[in-house]
Amino acid sequence: MKFFIDTANLAEIKEAYDLGILDGVTTNPSLMAKEGITGAENILNHYVAICNIVDGPVSAEVISTDFEGMVREGEQLAALHKNIVVKIPMITEGIKAIKYFASKGIRTNCTLIFSAGQALLAAKAGATYISPFLGRLDDVSTDGIQLIQQIRVIYDNYAFNTEILAASVRHPMHIIHCAEIGADVMTGPLSAIKALAKHPLTDLGLQQFLADYAKGNK
Ligand code: E4P
Repeated sequence: MKFFIDTANLAEIKEAYDLGILDGVTTNPSLMAKEGITGAENILNHYVAICNIVDGPVSAEVISTDFEGMVREGEQLAALHKNIVVKIPMITEGIKAIKYFASKGIRTNCTLIFSAGQALLAAKAGATYISPFLGRLDDVSTDGIQLIQQIRVIYDNYAFNTEILAASVRHPMHIIHCAEIGADVMTGPLSAIKALAKHPLTDLGLQQFLADYAKGNK
């Protein structure tokens, strides 16, 4: 399973990259705003800064909601760097835009996926990735993992190449469940990735090993 980090914070992206297990980055307009990145030029420069840290797919989201606007913005984003993946919302105009970008060889990430039907449409249009929002479904008492499982079955039935990018991951167990059911990629916060490494028995065991070494090497 590929690991993407879901942030626009350069320090966190660098820290995750330095771990040696990071495959890519996803951003969205809210994450950019959280970092105080505003204005078209600053936003474009920030995407380039992210691409300069991580050699892997970097999702950059369009703001337009009409086909022409998405195409204009998406082409501008894709021209910024070879690693940019154009993030398109799951709306009918978005489906058309995904189809257009697929015909031009521009990679897309169809975002805000909350149902199997949306995932099927995005794959038929030729999306490179689809982003089902696991955590946001869980937030409204709906099983996000079950949705990803359903999409996995549908994509496997028809050998769609579209990758399932489990998004809105909140904690390490989300990552484990996604791995169990065969999500291709997960994107989440650095805290959830780092939490995978933690186990109290590891800490206790290491403490003991170091104490025993110290006793024998006084
Ligand atoms: C996906 O690409 C989104 O950026 C993201 O995962 C949304 O996560 P949230 O529900 O924690 O905002």
